[in-house]
Amino acid sequence: MQTTIKIAIQKSGRLSDVSKSLLKECGIKIKNGKNQLIAPAVNYPANILYLRDDDIPQYVADGVADVGILGQNVVDETQAKILVAKKLGFSRCRLSLAIPKSENYTGLSFFQNKRIATSYPKILEKYLQKNGIQAELHKISGSVEIAPNIGLADGVCDIVSSGSTLFSNGLKEVEKVMDSEAVLVTNPNLNPKKQTIVDQLLFRIESVQTAQEFRYILLNAPNDKVQKITSILPGMKSPTIVPLVEEGWSSLHSVIRETDFWEIIDQLKTAGAEGILVMPVEKMIL
Ligand code: PRP
Ligand code: ZN
Repeated sequence: MQTTIKIAIQKSGRLSDVSKSLLKECGIKIKNGKNQLIAPAVNYPANILYLRDDDIPQYVADGVADVGILGQNVVDETQAKILVAKKLGFSRCRLSLAIPKSENYTGLSFFQNKRIATSYPKILEKYLQKNGIQAELHKISGSVEIAPNIGLADGVCDIVSSGSTLFSNGLKEVEKVMDSEAVLVTNPNLNPKKQTIVDQLLFRIESVQTAQEFRYILLNAPNDKVQKITSILPGMKSPTIVPLVEEGWSSLHSVIRETDFWEIIDQLKTAGAEGILVMPVEKMIL
């Protein structure tokens, strides 16, 4: 029988769409039935499990799933025996302390002997201890932000991304406890066959991530400007130069980092580049 791996992703929430997009960009098509909790990949030896993100670490640690995509915050909180194989760079957010907008914030000592509602008691406990604050933690698994409004707590410690959840609950962010982003975790004892499939997946993710940093650039220039423009382009290798039908003109093609592009765009124009096209790169293998 062919070996397959199980990849656990968040069923619904901040990470679920981006996780699905990542798999798609890696060329993994998922046969999706509505409300299905497990779905096979069509062209890849994997099954996708849709779970609550908080449950993913335990599933991966137990080997029910081999791989999981979830926030570093959840990994740290659960302290399950799993490996963080790759930071994914998306769904960046922070775990922060927040209090009602009307309160006057005086510094961390504000929380001394106060009640804080959170889904992250372990991370928070450590943070408060390190800062010499004694507080009463109330563990809540969802809708933490309403706790101050219903008199359950004086503040909250929860994930902040756009900040809109805090805002709509009349809260303000006052301290950042940690930064977080999506990570790919694996079971630490995968058998060699599964490990090979996981390594392949990691390779595909790397190609997608690398490609996202780069842009394919095309531009036209008079032949006597080509040398100058080539010296400005920080190409991977030297650019491709193709003659245009119009006498005395060439087209230059190159792959450059998007950040570099914004730095050199003015220089390119001054040097005589015209008709500049910048296009995304889908996959890139260095
Ligand atoms: C977090 C948090 C808030 C929301 C904050 O939930 O609990 O509900 O995201 O985002 P915002 O600042 O953009 O409004 P998370 O995605 O971690 O899911 P979960 O708590 O349902 O697991
Ligand atoms: Zn969650």
